[in-house]
Amino acid sequence: MRSFFRGRDLSRVHSIAELAELARHRLPHFAWEYLSGGAEDELTLARNRASFSEVHLHSRTLVPCHPPVTQRRLLGRELAVPMLIGPTGYNGMLHRDADLHLARAATARGLPFCLSTVSNVSMEAIKAQVPDVNLWFQLYAMRDPEIQASLLSRAQQAGVDTLLLTSDAMVLGNREWDRRNFVRPRELSLGNKLDVLRHPRWLRQVMWPNGLPSMGNLEPFLPPAERNALGSMKFIGEQMDTLLDWSMLARLRDQWSGRLLLKGVLHPADAEKAMALGLDGLVVSNHGGRQLEGALGSLDALRLIAPVVRGKMALLLDSGIRRGSDIAKALALGADAVLLGRATLYGVAVAAEQGAGRALDLLHEEFVRTLNLMGCADIADLSPDWLADVHAHSIYRG
Ligand SMILES: Cc1cc2nc3c(=O)[nH]c(=O)nc-3n(C[C@H](O)[C@H](O)[C@H](O)COP(=O)(O)O)c2cc1C
Repeated sequence: MRSFFRGRDLSRVHSIAELAELARHRLPHFAWEYLSGGAEDELTLARNRASFSEVHLHSRTLVPCHPPVTQRRLLGRELAVPMLIGPTGYNGMLHRDADLHLARAATARGLPFCLSTVSNVSMEAIKAQVPDVNLWFQLYAMRDPEIQASLLSRAQQAGVDTLLLTSDAMVLGNREWDRRNFVRPRELSLGNKLDVLRHPRWLRQVMWPNGLPSMGNLEPFLPPAERNALGSMKFIGEQMDTLLDWSMLARLRDQWSGRLLLKGVLHPADAEKAMALGLDGLVVSNHGGRQLEGALGSLDALRLIAPVVRGKMALLLDSGIRRGSDIAKALALGADAVLLGRATLYGVAVAAEQGAGRALDLLHEEFVRTLNLMGCADIADLSPDWLADVHAHSIYRG
């Protein structure tokens, strides 16, 4: 794909795919693979896109074109468009202050920003520097209950009212590129070191002056000498709880008084269990195809889960959103809102806050145009009746 992007003229970037292509050129190979890669043969990564492309919008004609209603109330807050920036760890590999840039871009558009446990900028720093942020926090459960309690109380102090527990990463997915690119933790292979030297702008943007950043939320738990990238990676490797189960989630429900969502749900039986525990919502997600290879595409899973949930709790989806029409399809199949992962990360890698903002604006504009072309005046009207699967000659219902 040819891109006519010059300097910071982001108005010349017309799609998330184009932002991705620019990010690929700007990042050293290892960082690009970290951002874009999936597990093993990347079948699930590909399925995420395929599951969207197999669903077709069944438009109505001769519906006058007005700005469609795209606002939605989600978990007590009004959103101009039902999307938010989802949690992604170690964004500092793309841009030193990527977490802040993402938080600013989301906040400027009235959208929530979800910070990962393994972010580089701490939740306190996000709140201090972006005071109006609608901050969500994604929790990786910790083996040490005191560490987990401390993270939760800090999140509450930082104004977080929505917590996402990620349940699909108890062991790390098989990301072969990661093992290829590093000879040992944080030590790049020679080929990758040479490749890094070919990316002076990235070196300036990420590595200068202090090298790869540590994980801000975890720093208080680390001895001063280990408050660095290696120390925090070692810490999270030791602390992430691999024995997570439903009883842990029930305890978390008691422990956390704010809204609690489970992220990484693909099976309707798990949606039932989450409802029984009184959770406030689910994120249907396969972690962007980075975890279980061979997992269902996110939209495939949504189709199974939505009929079970049916307005009883918030239903969110991520994994594969790259176009405004994807948002329309997800909403038609029962999602209340979508989370963005790589889409806004491509933007931040290209041009910090402006790049993330461009990704959000592109998706918003595409979403509005899609609704107009569908003849859909209000997202509240979206339902499976707006979809057709031309291959199966079936129409989705309920
Ligand atoms: C680079 C990267 C880092 C991620 N880190 C986390 C994380 O720390 N916690 C988490 O719950 N999900 C994490 N995810 C998964 C995202 O929250 C989300 O599920 C995924 O990106 C959605 O797929 P998409 O980016 O293809 O749309 C990460 C994804 C990427 C691409």
